[in-house]
Amino acid sequence: MTILVTGGAGYIGSHTVVQLLEADYEVIIVDDFSNSKPESLKRIKEITGKDFKFYEVNLLNEKALEEVFEENKIDAVIHFAGLKAVGESVSIPMKYYHNNITGTLILTKLMEKYDVKKMVFSSSATVYGMNNISPLTEDLPLSTTNPYGSTKLMIEQILRDIYVSDSSWSIALLRYFNPIGAHESGRIGEDPNGIPNNLMPYITQVAVGKRKELAVFGDDYDTHDGTGVRDYIHVVDLAAGHMKAVEKVMKDTGANAYNLGTGTGYSVLDVVKNFEKATNVKVPYTIADRRPGDIGACFSDATKAYNELGWKAEKNLEQMCEDAWRWQSNNPNGYENA
Ligand code: WQD
Repeated sequence: MTILVTGGAGYIGSHTVVQLLEADYEVIIVDDFSNSKPESLKRIKEITGKDFKFYEVNLLNEKALEEVFEENKIDAVIHFAGLKAVGESVSIPMKYYHNNITGTLILTKLMEKYDVKKMVFSSSATVYGMNNISPLTEDLPLSTTNPYGSTKLMIEQILRDIYVSDSSWSIALLRYFNPIGAHESGRIGEDPNGIPNNLMPYITQVAVGKRKELAVFGDDYDTHDGTGVRDYIHVVDLAAGHMKAVEKVMKDTGANAYNLGTGTGYSVLDVVKNFEKATNVKVPYTIADRRPGDIGACFSDATKAYNELGWKAEKNLEQMCEDAWRWQSNNPNGYENA
């Protein structure tokens, strides 16, 4: 079976490709390296001992993307490719809408043309907006507070409408909570461009000496210690969720959303303490103002994924911290200068 993985050189994409190859799928990666590096492809081959096809293509290049469909018999698509920085999306919304929405429309048009009607889509818990109370279930009202989140919500709607127009499609909308950690080898991991927006890469860069200290964005939320609570999930568990979603879309038709989270919320200070305990490395921090757009608590109810995909997260926060640290300490500059 052949799976086309858009954005397969990225953080979650590369971890998913490792599992696809280990499960003997044929894999084709399409990536434009806008938020990833070629080195990650070498590392995938190193970890798995397996090869795959690669096309350096941006989804907006319809001609180049069509060649991928012409040259390969594709059974299903896992669609990761997209811009994903919340703050950046506020300053350059048109780039986000064009890249994420138009890119997806070109992809789905070619999928229809070549009769590839099975897709796993990389959505996000950000579609639950600011007004829902955790634990979050898939049936809650959806809303967004930034252009990045709006692209995810709009693409979910586009994919649902495609299914309504043609019920032979099979689509899984995977709503990620907070992916952290890395493959146990320490050879692939999260490699953000510039100053990390997200908590764990910031912590690991402090731990490795690249950053002076962590700024904790607010300690006056209505949570057990006042700092923000999130549902951190090991990226390897997240990748396993994609494997189950591929099995599901190969078997059934429909358009269904699934939360991929652990169902447990940890605060920023919980993560710092667990990281220090797991790695024996101190993480100095200061309490700073709240970050605009943040909510106090956000964590999943992942029952639906368990019941319908047969998936649940297995790894705990200590393992997430250990694996994140192994990646960062072995690759202080990520894939740069590799
Ligand atoms: C986690 C917690 C921060 C950095 C974002 C996107 C979401 C998804 C995951 C793509 C919060 C606190 C963070 C720091 C801090 N991305 N924090 N200091 O905001 O839950 O979700 O990433 O799909 O769409 O919104 O993740 O890691 O940025 O923040 O105190 O330097 O850590 O306030 O409580 P978030 P995060």
